[in-house]
Amino acid sequence: MEVIIVDTADEVARVAADAISALVAARPDAVLGVATGSSPEGIYDELSRRVAAGGLSLAGARAFMLDEYVGLPADHPERYRNVIQRAFVDKVDIAADAVAGPDGGSDDLAGACAAYEQAIADAGGIDLQLLGIGTDGHIAFNEPGSSLASRTRIKTLTHQTRADNARFFDGRIDDVPQHCLTQGIGTILDARHLVLVATGRHKAEAIHHLVEGPVSAMWPGSALQLHPHVTVVLDSPAASRLQ
Ligand code: F6R
Repeated sequence: MEVIIVDTADEVARVAADAISALVAARPDAVLGVATGSSPEGIYDELSRRVAAGGLSLAGARAFMLDEYVGLPADHPERYRNVIQRAFVDKVDIAADAVAGPDGGSDDLAGACAAYEQAIADAGGIDLQLLGIGTDGHIAFNEPGSSLASRTRIKTLTHQTRADNARFFDGRIDDVPQHCLTQGIGTILDARHLVLVATGRHKAEAIHHLVEGPVSAMWPGSALQLHPHVTVVLDSPAASRLQ
């Protein structure tokens, strides 16, 4: 695991964008794994600047999302497919139909999870997976206690995660869905390169467990210790509990 500590969130974004730029330069049809939430927003903005400047094109790339809420209407602004459209797709030159997520509106959620696993496999797997981390150590929506071998499935969100995400629902925790579909930890570990970014002191404990703790289902991020190619990019506050 390579741990890179930089001074600012902008530098975190640039380092992560560099990894994507290098991959796409070598492999224009790369398969990216994209995350939602606040952590990757700066990365998408940096990629947008590079595309606008002509130094990068994602026109040949495809992308798979990590997770999706269950039960939000198709046009709900916080449905993750809509969030990733605004945060990423609309800002770069990737084709909208080249970006897929698990179908949290399906009548057959188990079938949607199996279909999503198959779609990733059919694409040849994910070359580079971007990740954030929850304050409770979750990656994607694999909450503490998730099996380290888990695959895409339905999960119940913890109170902590719903409280953390209430800021996207005008502060109303009751409006945050109780369930989600999420890639499993095993699914995430299948990606060929994992790039996890975290900024802020509120992520420091989760980062400590990810980098220095024992591998434990109670701190899902610690599963990244099992992967041969991981880059963790942190600002100083997020790194403040590392030895
Ligand atoms: C989002 C996701 C989550 C977030 C995590 C951190 O697709 O999978 O694991 O990465 O909740 O969220 P932020 O970045 O908003 O602090």
